[in-house]
Amino acid sequence: MKGIVLAGGSGTRLYPITKVYSKQLTVIYDKPLIYYPVSILMLGGIKDILIVSNKETIPMYQTLFGDGSHLGVNIRYVLQSAPNGIAESFILGEQFIGNDPVSLILGDNIFYGQLDFFYNALKRSSGATIFGYRVNDPDRYGVVEFDKSGKAISIEEKPKYPKSNFAVPGLYVYDNSVVEISKNIKPSPRGELEITDVNNTYLNAGTLQVEKIGRGVAWLDTGTPEALLQASNFFGVIEDRQGLKVACLEEIAYLMNFINKEQFEQTINAIPRSAYRTYLERILNEE
Ligand code: G1P
Repeated sequence: MKGIVLAGGSGTRLYPITKVYSKQLTVIYDKPLIYYPVSILMLGGIKDILIVSNKETIPMYQTLFGDGSHLGVNIRYVLQSAPNGIAESFILGEQFIGNDPVSLILGDNIFYGQLDFFYNALKRSSGATIFGYRVNDPDRYGVVEFDKSGKAISIEEKPKYPKSNFAVPGLYVYDNSVVEISKNIKPSPRGELEITDVNNTYLNAGTLQVEKIGRGVAWLDTGTPEALLQASNFFGVIEDRQGLKVACLEEIAYLMNFINKEQFEQTINAIPRSAYRTYLERILNEE
């Protein structure tokens, strides 16, 4: 399974925060936003990760992650020269994906809690799995409609009159046919290759699974200054209470056995003296 993080976009809605650097680099409590989606792929056991972004931001991600070897993963980068839509990731990532299935996460999507919904999707070998998450404001998202038996019957992108309260989060698991499907869809009226059109292609072929994510999982929004503050407060509360960090990539790499103890020590030694480093030293010495 390959993993893609789409972390481009102009982010103009968060101006002036996003005037200098992209939204996915804004801080959620104690680390850049993009750590959270990257952590989800890593927790899914995905070690080959492609970051899709624009030419201004790729160098910044390279500073953050390098080639990923300190995390025991392989991180590559590909340029999206204009915001042509989420589905373009699969065209830009064709070589990287090769013959494998692929999971895509949007660089501004945060999930917290029991990730079984994702782990189960990763086990399926064909078709596509997307998720449905109940929100108050579905019109801002892709919205999935279910029939009485709970089967998904339509998906609409940012509908004026949503047919349900179930939004489609920015986390998707596809078999390899997503590459060809993405090449064959046409840009929407807003000029983008819509992920919703990809998902509808699977839906019409009868190969789409839509799994509802339960209320015990947090899918947080990061689209407004209020949402950013709420997300920061949310993780600040949890980390402070437990004394454990969320989305701490070095720790995850170690706990997932992507790196051994020696490599974990080396990774820690490359981090400047900081609360973050002290935390990792504690994790190293705790077990
Ligand atoms: C995108 C997708 C939408 C999805 C959302 C999740 O919207 O087009 O279907 O529900 O991500 O974050 P965007 O954030 O690009 O407006």
